[in-house]
Amino acid sequence: MKAIRGRRPAMPLMDVGLALILVALASPFAGAQKVELSVDASKPGAKIDRNLFGQFAEHLGHGIYEGVWVGPDSTIPNTRGIRNDVVAALKALKVPNVRWPGGCFADEYHWRKGVGSQRPATLNPNWGGVIEPNTFGTTEYMDFIDQIGAQAYVSVNLGSGTPQEAAEWLEYLTTAQPTALAKERTANGHPAPYKVSYLGLGNESWDCGGNMTPEYYLSQMKIYTRFVRNYNPEQQEKQQMLKIAVGPGGGEPRWTEWTETIMKAYQHHTWSWDINGLSMHSYTVVKWPPAYKSVGFGETEYAQILKSTLEMEDLVTKHSAIMDKYDPQKAVALVVDEWGGWYAPLPGNNPGFLMQQNSQRDAILASLNLNIFARHADRVRMANIAQMINVLQAMVLTDKEKMVVTPTYYVYKMYVPFQDATFLPVAFDAGTYTQGDIKLPRVDAIAAKDKTGKLWLEVTNVDPNRAAEIEVGLTGVVATSAAGETLTAPKVDSVNAFDAPHTVVPRPISAKAQGGKLILKLEPKSVTVVAVE
Ligand code: AHR
Repeated sequence: MKAIRGRRPAMPLMDVGLALILVALASPFAGAQKVELSVDASKPGAKIDRNLFGQFAEHLGHGIYEGVWVGPDSTIPNTRGIRNDVVAALKALKVPNVRWPGGCFADEYHWRKGVGSQRPATLNPNWGGVIEPNTFGTTEYMDFIDQIGAQAYVSVNLGSGTPQEAAEWLEYLTTAQPTALAKERTANGHPAPYKVSYLGLGNESWDCGGNMTPEYYLSQMKIYTRFVRNYNPEQQEKQQMLKIAVGPGGGEPRWTEWTETIMKAYQHHTWSWDINGLSMHSYTVVKWPPAYKSVGFGETEYAQILKSTLEMEDLVTKHSAIMDKYDPQKAVALVVDEWGGWYAPLPGNNPGFLMQQNSQRDAILASLNLNIFARHADRVRMANIAQMINVLQAMVLTDKEKMVVTPTYYVYKMYVPFQDATFLPVAFDAGTYTQGDIKLPRVDAIAAKDKTGKLWLEVTNVDPNRAAEIEVGLTGVVATSAAGETLTAPKVDSVNAFDAPHTVVPRPISAKAQGGKLILKLEPKSVTVVAVE
């Protein structure tokens, strides 16, 4: 049959019926799994600390150099050497804090080499054995976090440094008095003391940070908490700097012993030492060395990685229970300051640069972990995904003048309303998504009320094949509609590439209440955040 130009040929009635059936079958909502979900706005829980959305930027591969720092003479648009495109992208995430300079790098970092006009080239033996030019140092880090509106989380060198070196760094950063170090800071362009909100006392001291026993670390850490002082006059009464000790790296006995040792000592701590946080590191890697591909994988690898990432729940529960024994008031936060997917390095790159792609699987992985942290918000009050740019599960990828934002970036953007919102309990029967012998909860969800009283709901549909129809019931509020964004992708391993940056981008989604309930239709493998009106 020939079509008349500009008009479709008429379709016989029987074909119309068949076409409708085919359209229905092709619809992402065909065979949608129904899930009832109820939010109880009358029982507010803990504050979801904005610091749960923290970032981590280590001197590693192109995390800092090229990713943040291109230098003032670069043809890439920059402000005092810091890339403008990256700053603009990160500002939209309202990044609360950036942990720096490492990582393993921190325990070999000597801050003096990174200030002033003479910056000696040193080595970065942890990460590819490359030259560390020290052109990005204290001044540049402080400028960078100021440009993106984040707070400082500085990790001091407890491994190969000395308490004196760390104490002098903090004096250089924070004193308002005219000491020699303050004069040096002034000469380097910053007369006013900097604000340092968080202080990391070493990094993975049980491993790359010096292979210490918990007892040895404890005695070192006490010395650092005593002498590494923040002198900023504005941080004496209010906004005091919080000190974060090295904590566990898993759930095995060596790490439960580590948490026990530190927390037991904390219970009886005296005026002369104190901590406010205990860090925990946990990557989704399945087994070492990291071998899962970050792109070019199928549903089995999707399910395996998500199964592994859900172990975060047990880990947080386990270490929180130990902390509860010695600190029932929850004065010490559990700080998950390294987490995320860690896959095989992308071929053709220095394997020490930990470069990997970032797919829709990572978006789901991010939402599942953020939801775990939110559910434990009374104890987990800070978390830093590893790492912000070009390294591991990054927000942003760059290649010379090009930049692209990742699916994980969009999850962080969509979750901005949860920063400092109040957790609300959500009850639901998740159902099961099965792939081979792997069984996972089909959906996950959190809810919260922001400072203006607006209610926010996040629902993740883990199932990569079936849509979900979520019937939301609310106690304590009347809802008429919901609107927000949903993030899904053609495939579980879809990524945003420099030449195809819009493969995985959020789209608007809305729902109307019917009979007092909101019906949200979620596509397979999706992350959705809506405001409920
Ligand atoms: O994020 C990469 C590395 O992983 C960090 O430097 C270290 O702390 C951890 O082992």
